[in-house]
Amino acid sequence: KAGAFILGTGRALPSRVLTNRDLEKMVDTSDEWITVRTGIKERRLVAEGESNSKLAISAAKKALEKAKVTPEELDLIIVATLTPDYLMPSVAVLVQQALGAKRAGAFDLSATCSGFLYALSIADKFVREDPKRKILVIGSEVLSHKTNWEDRTTCVLFGDGAGAAVVTGSPDGERGVISTHLHADGSLWHLLTLKGCGSLYPPCDPRIPKEDYYIRMQGREVFKQAVRAMESVTLEAIEAGGIDPQEIALLIPHQANIRIIEYLRERLELPPERVFVNIHKYGNTSAASIPIALDEAIEEGRLSPGDLVLMVSFGGGFTWAAVLMRW
Ligand code: ACO
Repeated sequence: KAGAFILGTGRALPSRVLTNRDLEKMVDTSDEWITVRTGIKERRLVAEGESNSKLAISAAKKALEKAKVTPEELDLIIVATLTPDYLMPSVAVLVQQALGAKRAGAFDLSATCSGFLYALSIADKFVREDPKRKILVIGSEVLSHKTNWEDRTTCVLFGDGAGAAVVTGSPDGERGVISTHLHADGSLWHLLTLKGCGSLYPPCDPRIPKEDYYIRMQGREVFKQAVRAMESVTLEAIEAGGIDPQEIALLIPHQANIRIIEYLRERLELPPERVFVNIHKYGNTSAASIPIALDEAIEEGRLSPGDLVLMVSFGGGFTWAAVLMRW
């Protein structure tokens, strides 16, 4: 029996655009290297006055409008993020306050790029318990403030943005989330870190290298793990759903690298039109990448009722996840 059903989605991207050509002026890189190695052409960055919570609120308002749900109807708000405005309060309570969602509980969830799928999985459990519940699930990031703009191996990869979905119980037991698959392996955590400003790494501690206040990644090793994990969780979801890969109407992978996405597409023998790609416009927006992609896919008319949708992610931790749903 199906669980969480998506009533409406929304997205918010900052207006500032940083192109590969702009980056050529900042670090020793080239448009060609970035395009060939990652698929990214440009990314969005927050400007003065923009923040994670503002992006999240903007995406949430659009999702609520499309879902025809009022803030007062919300039971729960979950924000997946690794770049909250503050450590306290959470982004989720800032969203709750701004929307006037008086009845809703609210919390942030930290699972890096898999955060949105982790959050959607939690929402799925809540609406399976009571299908009338309405839950706002958001992925929102301001990675640009955690990017070392002198490190060419990371600064070309990331972007800012937010995506949101309003979720309730399945309307008919058929449409909605079929299965959720969450995984983690902390044994290789050191390959991808953002240590600075955690309680072990207080701000401005002179003993701590400056680089540790930003995202650090051993890209090649992470790439190998990402390919392996994305493939295995995809096959796990396909098996759990008892489906043939050819039945997938749209695969929505986390947008970290076009080569990872292409590998997955070829492995499943899916034609390009059945795999959603927008990495060229936004880069890697971590927890925001899948909900932004989902919102654009809907807007482009790429999903019809009854379609099978598979969302797959991989990120720091490591964490990886998949959610299979009938649209
Ligand atoms: N411009 C030009 N050259 C560069 C750049 C750059 N921006 N960055 C690195 N290089 C150089 C390297 O120094 C290296 O040079 P060398 O051969 O002389 O040593 C060469 O290019 C190749 O570097 P690699 O790191 O091997 O390049 P690779 O093909 O692996 O691509 C990339 C790097 C894009 C980072 C890739 O490894 C990747 O996408 N990794 C996975 C990312 C991912 O999935 N992350 C998980 C989610 S992120 C999160 O959780 C927040």
